[in-house]
Amino acid sequence: MTVESRPTVYIETYGCQMNVSDSELMYGRLEENGYTPVGGPEGADVILVNTCAIRDHAEQRVIGRLGELKRFMGRDTVLGVTGCMAQRLGPALLDRARHVQLVVGPDGYRALPALIDGARRGERVANVTFDLEEHYEDFHARRFDGVRAWIPVQRGCDYKCTYCIVPMTRGPERSRTLADVEREARAVAEQGITEITLLGQTVNSYRNGEHDFADLLRCVGRVPGIRRLRFTSPHPNDFTDRAIAAMADTPTLCEHVHLPMQSGSSRTLKRMLRRYTRETYFECVERIRAAIPGVALTTDIIVGFPGETDDEFEDTLSAVRDIGFDDAFTFRFSLRDGTPATRLPESLTVPDHVAADRLDRLVALVREGTRARNLSMLGTRHEVLIEKAARRGGLLQGRTRQHRTVLVAGDESLIGRYFTVELTGTTGSTFTGTMTSAGQPLPLAG
Ligand code: 5AD
Ligand code: SF4
Repeated sequence: MTVESRPTVYIETYGCQMNVSDSELMYGRLEENGYTPVGGPEGADVILVNTCAIRDHAEQRVIGRLGELKRFMGRDTVLGVTGCMAQRLGPALLDRARHVQLVVGPDGYRALPALIDGARRGERVANVTFDLEEHYEDFHARRFDGVRAWIPVQRGCDYKCTYCIVPMTRGPERSRTLADVEREARAVAEQGITEITLLGQTVNSYRNGEHDFADLLRCVGRVPGIRRLRFTSPHPNDFTDRAIAAMADTPTLCEHVHLPMQSGSSRTLKRMLRRYTRETYFECVERIRAAIPGVALTTDIIVGFPGETDDEFEDTLSAVRDIGFDDAFTFRFSLRDGTPATRLPESLTVPDHVAADRLDRLVALVREGTRARNLSMLGTRHEVLIEKAARRGGLLQGRTRQHRTVLVAGDESLIGRYFTVELTGTTGSTFTGTMTSAGQPLPLAG
């Protein structure tokens, strides 16, 4: 079979990093089954839309996009919807969008080649069963980024935060074995990738047999060739002393923790069933800061959760001020069918205009904090890994260990290399900088 005669597949990815990682697994699976990945929907034989269900807005975007994709479809094109929205809507999605032939949830990707064959014969199928044994261990992720790799270590989630659809779309939590994760880390390092991000819905609750998250960090952190290790997203309650000690002891672990707070009010946190209070969240921040000097902290915050009073919202603002996050992803609460929040009394619903106003105030506060910190950092020097060409003409985009984005001048041959960069300007959120010298490699442990 010549390469030209192989069918082509295009996967469009929405949502979180876990979905990006799942798309890499699907590409790998399909490539091994004779498909050639392509970079756009034009002329693709198979188009998959890997979706997110976390907020209604995310789903509406996909519905709109499915309509648009019609114009790229020929008579024999197969259109499939995968991921969290596929899992949530199941067969109903086949009724809603008549040009969609496949609906496959996050545990169903093993069957994709067979399902696509069926779709080519005219079948329309929804495959949304959970499979607690499914880790896709024998899949070979097809990575398009030659600089950084995302490695899933856990699938699903056992927390039951009342706003969250994820336990329903990704099922119960299960962790991969340490040996499998290590094998994948070694394989990506051998390909010349130097940065790894470990992925899980509550990544620090990782446990397989006697191995916990601390063991995982120590193990992956000393894989030869890996110079930067990250993880996302942790749950504050799973930062054991062992985990924090492993973070402090692992030189490759970057000084950045994304620590979802969701709210700064203990009362709101209780309704969210986050299982921590404002005080214990602050304690967690202190323990991380004490163990990792210079650590950058980012977070996720939801405003307008049912019953959030003005005072409770003020507690969120004061937490943002007191902690001094480096950055925050901020969201307006979106009620998802099937989540426990739907059982809260309707009288607790926060009116749209109030939620919108709170979001504006929160965003302004976060921006102000980020901007002040970034201005104070001008003139300092940092190790930057050049990741890719920036969208802005002729510049390269890289990141510091603290995950701050820096734009520098240079040509694309520098992608994947480390440099010491002096920060010379800031837009408020990102930096521009100048390279001063090639960064010194860290001594590699192990
Ligand atoms: N509404 C708004 N934001 C949500 N998130 C999760 N569920 C919802 C929801 N129903 C946010 C949380 C989470 C991030 C990935 O998305 O802040 O950490
Ligand atoms: Fe990722 Fe959650 Fe969205 Fe699923 S619903 S894609 S797990 S953010």
